[in-house]
Amino acid sequence: MLMGNFLRNRKSIRDFKRESVEAEKLEEVRTDMKALEKEGQGDFAFRLFEDGERIREALAGKAGYAGVMIEAPHYIALDILKDSDSALIYGAYYMEKLITELNKKDLSTCWISLDEVDEKLKKELFGKDIKDIGYILAFGYEKPHNPFTSEEPYSVKFGIEDFVFDEKLEREVERDKLETYGLIDLFYYIRFAPSTKNLQPWRFLFRDDTTIELLLAFEDWDRHLLVDAGIIMYYFEELGRYAGINNKWQLIDGEIYQGEQYRYKSIGLFKL
Ligand SMILES: Cc1cc2nc3c(=O)[nH]c(=O)nc-3n(C[C@H](O)[C@H](O)[C@H](O)COP(=O)(O)O)c2cc1C
Repeated sequence: MLMGNFLRNRKSIRDFKRESVEAEKLEEVRTDMKALEKEGQGDFAFRLFEDGERIREALAGKAGYAGVMIEAPHYIALDILKDSDSALIYGAYYMEKLITELNKKDLSTCWISLDEVDEKLKKELFGKDIKDIGYILAFGYEKPHNPFTSEEPYSVKFGIEDFVFDEKLEREVERDKLETYGLIDLFYYIRFAPSTKNLQPWRFLFRDDTTIELLLAFEDWDRHLLVDAGIIMYYFEELGRYAGINNKWQLIDGEIYQGEQYRYKSIGLFKL
Protein backbone atom coordinates (compact mmCIF):
# COMPACT_ATOMS: atom_id res chain seq x y z
CA MET A 1 0.00 0.00 0.00
CA LEU A 2 1.26 3.47 -0.79
CA MET A 3 1.94 5.85 2.03
CA GLY A 4 -0.67 8.14 0.57
CA ASN A 5 -3.39 5.54 0.86
CA PHE A 6 -2.50 4.53 4.34
CA LEU A 7 -3.38 7.21 6.91
CA ARG A 8 -4.17 9.93 4.36
CA ASN A 9 -7.86 9.39 4.63
CA ARG A 10 -7.77 8.66 8.28
CA LYS A 11 -10.11 10.94 10.17
CA SER A 12 -12.56 10.82 13.02
CA ILE A 13 -16.03 9.67 11.98
CA ARG A 14 -18.94 10.66 14.19
CA ASP A 15 -21.92 9.49 12.09
CA PHE A 16 -22.37 5.76 12.09
CA LYS A 17 -24.98 3.53 10.57
CA ARG A 18 -27.12 1.99 13.31
CA GLU A 19 -26.65 -1.54 12.04
CA SER A 20 -24.33 -3.90 13.87
CA VAL A 21 -21.10 -5.11 12.41
CA GLU A 22 -21.33 -8.73 11.20
CA ALA A 23 -20.59 -11.34 13.86
CA GLU A 24 -17.64 -12.80 11.89
CA LYS A 25 -16.07 -9.38 11.58
CA LEU A 26 -16.48 -8.73 15.29
CA GLU A 27 -14.73 -12.04 15.91
CA GLU A 28 -11.84 -10.89 13.72
CA VAL A 29 -11.70 -7.63 15.69
CA ARG A 30 -11.46 -9.66 18.91
CA THR A 31 -8.58 -11.63 17.44
CA ASP A 32 -6.81 -8.38 16.48
CA MET A 33 -7.39 -7.01 19.98
CA LYS A 34 -5.83 -10.06 21.57
CA ALA A 35 -2.80 -10.01 19.28
CA LEU A 36 -2.15 -6.34 20.04
CA GLU A 37 -2.64 -6.80 23.79
CA LYS A 38 0.05 -9.44 23.61
CA GLU A 39 2.42 -7.02 21.88
CA GLY A 40 1.59 -4.51 24.62
CA GLN A 41 2.90 -6.91 27.28
CA GLY A 42 0.31 -6.28 29.94
CA ASP A 43 0.30 -2.47 29.80
CA PHE A 44 -3.32 -2.32 28.69
CA ALA A 45 -6.39 -4.33 27.71
CA PHE A 46 -8.99 -3.69 25.05
CA ARG A 47 -12.58 -4.38 25.99
CA LEU A 48 -15.16 -4.73 23.26
CA PHE A 49 -18.77 -3.80 24.04
CA GLU A 50 -21.11 -5.13 21.40
CA ASP A 51 -24.21 -3.61 22.91
CA GLY A 52 -23.57 -0.02 21.90
CA GLU A 53 -27.00 1.14 22.91
CA ARG A 54 -26.38 0.49 26.59
CA ILE A 55 -23.13 2.49 26.49
CA ARG A 56 -24.44 5.42 24.50
CA GLU A 57 -27.54 5.78 26.65
CA ALA A 58 -25.53 5.76 29.86
CA LEU A 59 -23.03 8.28 28.49
CA ALA A 60 -25.60 10.65 26.98
CA GLY A 61 -24.75 14.18 28.07
CA LYS A 62 -21.51 12.98 29.72
CA ALA A 63 -19.26 12.30 26.75
CA GLY A 64 -19.22 12.78 23.00
CA TYR A 65 -18.90 15.75 20.72
CA ALA A 66 -19.97 19.14 22.03
CA GLY A 67 -22.12 17.43 24.68
CA VAL A 68 -23.74 14.98 22.27
CA MET A 69 -22.81 11.33 22.64
CA ILE A 70 -21.40 9.75 19.49
CA GLU A 71 -23.80 6.97 18.57
CA ALA A 72 -22.08 3.89 17.28
CA PRO A 73 -23.23 0.28 17.20
CA HIS A 74 -20.16 -0.81 19.22
CA TYR A 75 -17.40 0.58 21.39
CA ILE A 76 -13.96 -0.57 22.45
CA ALA A 77 -12.63 0.64 25.80
CA LEU A 78 -8.92 1.14 26.39
CA ASP A 79 -8.11 -0.05 29.90
CA ILE A 80 -4.69 1.06 31.14
CA LEU A 81 -3.51 -1.65 33.49
CA LYS A 82 -0.29 -0.13 34.82
CA ASP A 83 0.04 3.22 36.47
CA SER A 84 2.91 4.53 34.37
CA ASP A 85 3.48 7.07 31.63
CA SER A 86 4.70 4.40 29.25
CA ALA A 87 1.56 2.28 29.73
CA LEU A 88 -0.57 5.27 28.77
CA ILE A 89 1.64 6.08 25.79
CA TYR A 90 1.69 2.51 24.49
CA GLY A 91 -1.99 1.96 25.21
CA ALA A 92 -2.74 4.82 22.83
CA TYR A 93 -0.12 3.62 20.35
CA TYR A 94 -1.78 0.23 20.15
CA MET A 95 -5.27 1.70 19.99
CA GLU A 96 -4.14 3.44 16.77
CA LYS A 97 -2.70 0.18 15.54
CA LEU A 98 -6.08 -1.42 16.23
CA ILE A 99 -7.75 1.40 14.26
CA THR A 100 -5.57 0.43 11.28
CA GLU A 101 -6.99 -3.09 11.51
CA LEU A 102 -10.54 -1.75 11.81
CA ASN A 103 -10.05 0.52 8.80
CA LYS A 104 -8.81 -2.44 6.76
CA LYS A 105 -12.19 -4.05 7.50
CA ASP A 106 -13.94 -0.94 6.22
CA LEU A 107 -14.89 0.15 9.75
CA SER A 108 -14.67 3.78 10.87
CA THR A 109 -13.81 5.07 14.32
CA CYS A 110 -13.74 7.99 16.72
CA TRP A 111 -11.93 8.31 20.04
CA ILE A 112 -14.18 9.48 22.87
CA SER A 113 -12.78 10.97 26.11
CA LEU A 114 -14.42 10.00 29.38
CA ASP A 115 -12.99 12.82 31.54
CA GLU A 116 -16.40 13.80 32.83
CA VAL A 117 -17.57 10.28 33.63
CA ASP A 118 -17.22 9.17 37.25
CA GLU A 119 -15.61 5.91 38.29
CA LYS A 120 -18.82 4.46 39.68
CA LEU A 121 -20.61 4.73 36.35
CA LYS A 122 -17.56 3.38 34.53
CA LYS A 123 -17.60 0.28 36.74
CA GLU A 124 -21.33 -0.18 36.15
CA LEU A 125 -20.85 0.12 32.43
CA PHE A 126 -17.58 -1.63 31.78
CA GLY A 127 -17.35 -4.05 34.68
CA LYS A 128 -16.02 -3.87 38.23
CA ASP A 129 -12.61 -5.30 37.30
CA ILE A 130 -11.57 -2.41 35.08
CA LYS A 131 -8.45 -0.50 36.06
CA ASP A 132 -8.31 2.86 34.29
CA ILE A 133 -10.60 3.58 31.36
CA GLY A 134 -10.19 7.15 30.15
CA TYR A 135 -11.15 6.57 26.52
CA ILE A 136 -13.41 4.47 24.39
CA LEU A 137 -13.42 4.08 20.66
CA ALA A 138 -16.72 4.29 18.79
CA PHE A 139 -16.73 2.07 15.73
CA GLY A 140 -19.02 0.82 12.99
CA TYR A 141 -19.88 1.56 9.37
CA GLU A 142 -19.83 5.20 8.38
CA LYS A 143 -23.13 6.75 7.42
CA PRO A 144 -22.73 8.02 3.85
CA HIS A 145 -22.89 11.79 3.50
CA ASN A 146 -25.11 13.39 0.96
CA PRO A 147 -22.57 15.51 -0.92
CA PHE A 148 -25.23 18.08 -1.82
CA THR A 149 -26.68 18.72 1.60
CA SER A 150 -24.02 18.01 4.15
CA GLU A 151 -20.56 19.32 4.47
CA GLU A 152 -17.77 16.91 5.31
CA PRO A 153 -16.52 17.75 8.78
CA TYR A 154 -13.06 19.10 8.27
CA SER A 155 -10.44 19.62 10.92
CA VAL A 156 -7.76 22.25 10.43
CA LYS A 157 -4.23 20.91 10.55
CA PHE A 158 -0.94 22.66 11.25
CA GLY A 159 1.61 23.24 8.53
CA ILE A 160 4.93 21.41 8.76
CA GLU A 161 6.63 24.66 9.80
CA ASP A 162 4.44 24.75 12.91
CA PHE A 163 5.59 21.49 14.40
CA VAL A 164 8.96 20.46 12.95
CA PHE A 165 12.01 22.32 14.24
CA ASP A 166 15.74 22.29 13.63
CA GLU A 167 18.32 21.92 16.39
CA LYS A 168 16.48 24.40 18.54
CA LEU A 169 12.85 24.72 19.52
CA GLU A 170 10.80 27.16 17.48
CA ARG A 171 13.43 27.32 14.75
CA GLU A 172 11.81 26.23 11.50
CA VAL A 173 13.31 23.40 9.58
CA GLU A 174 14.39 24.06 5.97
CA ARG A 175 12.48 22.14 3.35
CA ASP A 176 15.81 21.08 1.83
CA LYS A 177 16.72 19.30 5.02
CA LEU A 178 13.45 17.35 5.07
CA GLU A 179 14.01 16.49 1.43
CA THR A 180 17.52 15.25 2.14
CA TYR A 181 16.16 12.94 4.81
CA GLY A 182 13.25 11.87 2.63
CA LEU A 183 10.83 12.98 5.33
CA ILE A 184 8.59 15.47 3.53
CA ASP A 185 5.81 12.97 2.91
CA LEU A 186 6.05 11.63 6.43
CA PHE A 187 5.59 15.07 7.95
CA TYR A 188 2.90 15.94 5.45
CA TYR A 189 0.75 12.93 6.30
CA ILE A 190 1.49 12.76 10.00
CA ARG A 191 -0.59 15.90 10.45
CA PHE A 192 -3.71 13.82 9.90
CA ALA A 193 -3.21 12.00 13.18
CA PRO A 194 -6.08 12.51 15.60
CA SER A 195 -5.41 14.42 18.79
CA THR A 196 -7.39 15.49 21.83
CA LYS A 197 -9.52 18.48 20.80
CA ASN A 198 -7.42 18.64 17.62
CA LEU A 199 -4.73 20.46 19.63
CA GLN A 200 -1.91 18.72 17.72
CA PRO A 201 0.48 19.13 20.65
CA TRP A 202 3.32 17.14 19.06
CA ARG A 203 6.59 18.81 18.07
CA PHE A 204 9.55 17.21 16.33
CA LEU A 205 13.05 18.53 16.81
CA PHE A 206 16.06 17.51 14.71
CA ARG A 207 18.72 17.15 17.41
CA ASP A 208 21.63 16.25 15.19
CA ASP A 209 22.10 14.43 11.93
CA THR A 210 20.78 11.17 13.26
CA THR A 211 18.19 11.90 15.93
CA ILE A 212 14.70 13.33 16.09
CA GLU A 213 13.23 14.23 19.45
CA LEU A 214 9.49 14.14 20.10
CA LEU A 215 8.15 16.80 22.46
CA LEU A 216 4.70 17.82 23.57
CA ALA A 217 3.80 21.51 23.65
CA PHE A 218 1.47 22.66 26.43
CA GLU A 219 0.48 25.49 28.70
CA ASP A 220 -0.68 23.40 31.66
CA TRP A 221 0.69 19.91 31.89
CA ASP A 222 -1.95 17.21 31.61
CA ARG A 223 -1.09 13.51 31.62
CA HIS A 224 -3.66 12.98 28.90
CA LEU A 225 -1.24 14.58 26.49
CA LEU A 226 0.70 11.32 26.69
CA VAL A 227 -2.14 9.69 24.77
CA ASP A 228 -1.55 12.10 21.90
CA ALA A 229 2.16 11.25 22.10
CA GLY A 230 1.48 7.52 21.78
CA ILE A 231 -0.72 8.14 18.74
CA ILE A 232 1.86 10.25 16.94
CA MET A 233 4.64 7.75 17.70
CA TYR A 234 2.56 5.10 15.96
CA TYR A 235 1.95 7.33 12.94
CA PHE A 236 5.63 8.25 12.73
CA GLU A 237 6.85 4.67 12.83
CA GLU A 238 4.24 3.50 10.36
CA LEU A 239 4.88 6.33 7.90
CA GLY A 240 8.61 5.92 8.50
CA ARG A 241 8.45 2.42 7.15
CA TYR A 242 7.29 3.83 3.81
CA ALA A 243 10.24 6.21 3.87
CA GLY A 244 12.51 3.21 4.42
CA ILE A 245 13.17 3.90 8.11
CA ASN A 246 12.44 0.90 10.26
CA ASN A 247 13.30 2.19 13.69
CA LYS A 248 11.18 2.66 16.80
CA TRP A 249 10.88 5.44 19.35
CA GLN A 250 12.83 5.16 22.58
CA LEU A 251 11.05 6.81 25.47
CA ILE A 252 13.04 9.19 27.64
CA ASP A 253 12.14 10.54 31.02
CA GLY A 254 11.13 13.92 29.80
CA GLU A 255 12.78 17.17 30.67
CA ILE A 256 10.57 20.25 30.55
CA TYR A 257 11.73 23.22 28.46
CA GLN A 258 10.37 26.74 28.55
CA GLY A 259 9.80 28.10 25.06
CA GLU A 260 8.54 31.44 23.81
CA GLN A 261 4.92 30.42 23.52
CA TYR A 262 4.71 27.04 25.19
CA ARG A 263 6.40 24.74 27.63
CA TYR A 264 7.62 21.50 26.16
CA LYS A 265 8.05 18.04 27.59
CA SER A 266 10.43 15.68 25.93
CA ILE A 267 8.94 12.24 25.28
CA GLY A 268 11.22 10.19 23.09
CA LEU A 269 14.09 9.90 20.65
CA PHE A 270 14.07 8.35 17.20
CA LYS A 271 17.28 7.38 15.43
CA LEU A 272 17.09 8.05 11.71
C1 LIG B 1 -7.25 10.93 22.76
C2 LIG B 1 -8.34 11.50 21.93
C3 LIG B 1 -9.56 11.81 22.51
C4 LIG B 1 -10.60 12.30 21.74
N1 LIG B 1 -11.82 12.55 22.32
C5 LIG B 1 -12.86 12.94 21.54
C6 LIG B 1 -14.15 13.12 22.10
O1 LIG B 1 -14.36 12.95 23.31
N2 LIG B 1 -15.15 13.48 21.27
C7 LIG B 1 -14.95 13.68 19.93
O2 LIG B 1 -15.91 14.01 19.24
N3 LIG B 1 -13.75 13.54 19.37
C8 LIG B 1 -12.70 13.15 20.15
N4 LIG B 1 -11.47 12.94 19.57
C9 LIG B 1 -11.27 13.18 18.14
C10 LIG B 1 -10.56 14.51 17.91
O3 LIG B 1 -11.45 15.55 18.21
C11 LIG B 1 -10.09 14.55 16.46
O4 LIG B 1 -9.07 13.61 16.31
C12 LIG B 1 -9.52 15.89 16.05
O5 LIG B 1 -10.52 16.86 16.07
C13 LIG B 1 -8.93 15.84 14.65
O6 LIG B 1 -9.86 15.42 13.70
P1 LIG B 1 -9.56 14.17 12.78
O7 LIG B 1 -9.34 12.99 13.68
O8 LIG B 1 -10.76 14.02 11.91
O9 LIG B 1 -8.32 14.50 12.00
C14 LIG B 1 -10.42 12.51 20.35
C15 LIG B 1 -9.18 12.21 19.77
C16 LIG B 1 -8.16 11.71 20.55
C17 LIG B 1 -6.89 11.38 19.89
